[in-house]
Amino acid sequence: MIPREILHLNSRHLGRSIQLFEEVPSTNDLAASFAHDPDAAGTVYVAEHQTNGRGQYGRLWQARPGSSLLLSVLLFPPAELRRPVILTAWAAVGIAQAILELTGAEARIKWPNDLLIGGKKVCGILIEQSGGVVLGFGLNRSQTAEDFAAVGLPDATSLGMISGTNPDAITVLKTVVQHLDAGYDRLLSGERITPESQWKQRIGLIGRQVRIDLADGGQRVGRLRDMSFDGLELETGEHAIEVILPELIRGLSANF
Ligand code: BTN
Repeated sequence: MIPREILHLNSRHLGRSIQLFEEVPSTNDLAASFAHDPDAAGTVYVAEHQTNGRGQYGRLWQARPGSSLLLSVLLFPPAELRRPVILTAWAAVGIAQAILELTGAEARIKWPNDLLIGGKKVCGILIEQSGGVVLGFGLNRSQTAEDFAAVGLPDATSLGMISGTNPDAITVLKTVVQHLDAGYDRLLSGERITPESQWKQRIGLIGRQVRIDLADGGQRVGRLRDMSFDGLELETGEHAIEVILPELIRGLSANF
């Protein structure tokens, strides 16, 4: 598959090479096809359109050509960073920081890896691990409320809807990659406190009564006392605190 254009950023880890494609089946699949090649580390794959874009839980991810930033990057992080919760926090926080810079809007993280603005989804993230790690996401850029209504997605929003004007596609691309690169650099240098607290703050549920949906189908209800990459502390009774590993959690919500 031949890219239409290749850009280069003066970054440390992600985006030293950015390959832009007109149409691919899925940028995540494209990135994963280079997982045998250490030289492909940090390469960013972007498509105007995907014919088989994949979402979480095997769902399809569809976007009108040119309307979204459809991006995947291949990385080979050290073993201690290959935890879904850490990778998700890094990606979600980096994209949220880029959205803030582009639009002035604060995005919230909806567990595990959606970004919402005003309660509406602006970005979906899909992280897959095989030989390497592939971070892929679809960031809604220029869709209108009518576009979303027409495809049965009334609970979605875009950068254009938030800011009243469509940010330029290349500016969005560069801004997001730069924030992800800076966050990845911090993780590689061993920083945990800042990424963890940015993630916690953007989830925004500390002190609230929450429901945790577990991957095994179980549920827990209680007050969320604190959270870190090592566990969510839930007050389930007057003196009862349960610590639940992030990897066991499929959903976290305060509106139930
Ligand atoms: C979700 O279900 O919310 C996650 C959606 C992830 C979609 C992106 S678009 C770019 C990359 N390529 C894919 O096939 N999927 C991800």
